[in-house]
Amino acid sequence: MSAGAPDPIARAFAPDRRGAPVRVRGWVQRSRSSGGILFLHLRDRTGTVQVTGKKDVLGPEAFAAAEHVQVEGVIEVEGTVADDPRAPGGREVRARTIRVVDPGLPFPIFQEQTEEFRLDKRHLVIRSDEHVATFRVKAELLRALRAFLDAEEVLEVTPPILTGNPAEGGAEAFQIDYFGRPGYLSQTAQLYLEAMLSPHERVYALTPSFRAEKSRTPRHLTEYQHLEIELAWCDLDGLMSFIERMVVAACHAVAERRPAELRALGRKPEELAALAPPFPRISYADAIDRLAREGFPVRWGSDLGTAEERALTLESAVPLFVTRYPRELKAFYMLRSPDDPRTVEATDLLAPEGYGEMVGASCRETSLDRLTERLTAVGANLADYEWYLDLRRHGNVPHAGFGLGIERILRWMVRREHIRETTPFPRTPSRHTP
Ligand code: 4AD
Ligand code: MG
Repeated sequence: MSAGAPDPIARAFAPDRRGAPVRVRGWVQRSRSSGGILFLHLRDRTGTVQVTGKKDVLGPEAFAAAEHVQVEGVIEVEGTVADDPRAPGGREVRARTIRVVDPGLPFPIFQEQTEEFRLDKRHLVIRSDEHVATFRVKAELLRALRAFLDAEEVLEVTPPILTGNPAEGGAEAFQIDYFGRPGYLSQTAQLYLEAMLSPHERVYALTPSFRAEKSRTPRHLTEYQHLEIELAWCDLDGLMSFIERMVVAACHAVAERRPAELRALGRKPEELAALAPPFPRISYADAIDRLAREGFPVRWGSDLGTAEERALTLESAVPLFVTRYPRELKAFYMLRSPDDPRTVEATDLLAPEGYGEMVGASCRETSLDRLTERLTAVGANLADYEWYLDLRRHGNVPHAGFGLGIERILRWMVRREHIRETTPFPRTPSRHTP
C-alpha cells in the first residue's frame, strides 16, 4: 500500500490525473458485478467516482470480498485513474487492490419506503444526496451570516437556554422541572440580548429555540436554530435595512459557494445572486386590504396565518416586509408606534414564493410604564420580569432587534416542501427521536 493519506475522490477528476496512481477510500453507494468485473460507486466528502475491479487483477478471494460489500459499506482502493466515457464524470478508478474496511450489513433504506419509516431511520437517511446537499448549504448559510455580523461589528454572545420565565408567550413554552421549580426551555434569547446591549451596543446569538406549538405545519419545528440580533440606537427603518443587507449577503455567499448543491435541490443560484436591497414593504393594514380583496376572510386585527402569508408572496421572487401590526397580535415588549397607539413598530419578513415568515423583528418598548402595562395585560407574573424591567431603569436607550429562523430561510433557499428536511434530526409534536 502506498504511503501517506488517501486522495480525496474529487482529485481523481483533476485534469492532470489521467493515468496516475491513486488511493481513495469511502462508502459504497451502489455496486454490481458482471462477467468478472465489479462496478462500484464510491463516495467520500469530496465527491463520487466509479471504481472498476477485475477478478483476474484483484485475485478471486479479494474479488469475492469486494463483491460482498453492501451499500454504505466502506472500502479503500488502490489503482489508476482512467478516462471512460461510460463512467459518470467520464473518469473511473481501475482498482489494483480493494481493501474492505467494513463490509456492512444490508442497508435498510430504499426510495419507496413510507415517510414514517424514513423518519425512524433518519440517522441513516441523512446520507442521501438531498440531505448532504442541504446541510452543506446550511453550513454555508451559517458561515455567511456570521461573516456578515462580524463585519458589522456585532458581538457574538452566549445566552442561556434554561430559563426561569417564558419570553415569547407562555402557552408555547416547554416547561421543565428545575429542581422542583418551574423552568422553561428558551423560546428566544431576546431578553438576554437586551441585557447585554449595554455595554456592547450590538450583539447576536445563535441558539436553539423551543416552541411547544402543536401545529403540524410544513414550517413549524419544536426545536429550531434561531439567529437573534439586538441593536442599540436603531429604529424600524434602520432595522429593516440591516435585515435586508444581512439576507442579501447570505444569499449571495450561498449562491457563490454552493451552486452545485443549490441546483441539485432545485434552486437556481442565479435567483439568490440576483437579490438586492431594498425589499418591498407593505403595512399590515394594506396587507389586510389586499387579502380581503383577494377573498380572504380577514379584517383589521386578524392574524396572518400560513395561507395569508403564502398569498402575499406567492408570485414574488423577493422577500416582503410586513410592517406595523396590531399590538394585540404581537409580544409584550414591542414599541408602540409613535403615530398610532393601535400598532407596534414591528415587521415580519416573508420569504418569496409563498414560503412565509422567516424573520420576526421589532423596536423594543423603552417606557417602563407601558412595559408594565403590557405585561399585566398579557397576564404575566410581574415578579418574573423584574430583572428585565431593571434594564429600563438603568441606561435605557432606543433599540431594536430580530430573530431569523435558520430552517425557515433555508427551506426557501433550497425549496423544500417541509421544514423537517432542513434539519438533520427534526423535532415535531409527534417526534423527538432518533
Ligand atoms: O417571530 P418570533 O417568535 O420572534 C421572536 O422570538 C423574537 N423574540 C425574536 C427577536 O426579536 N429576537 O420568532 C423569530 C423567528 C420567526 O420569524 C421564524 O423564522 C422562526 O423564528 N420561528 C420558527 N422556526 C421554526 N419553527 C418554529 N416553530 C418557529 N417559530 C418561530
Ligand atoms: Mg413571529
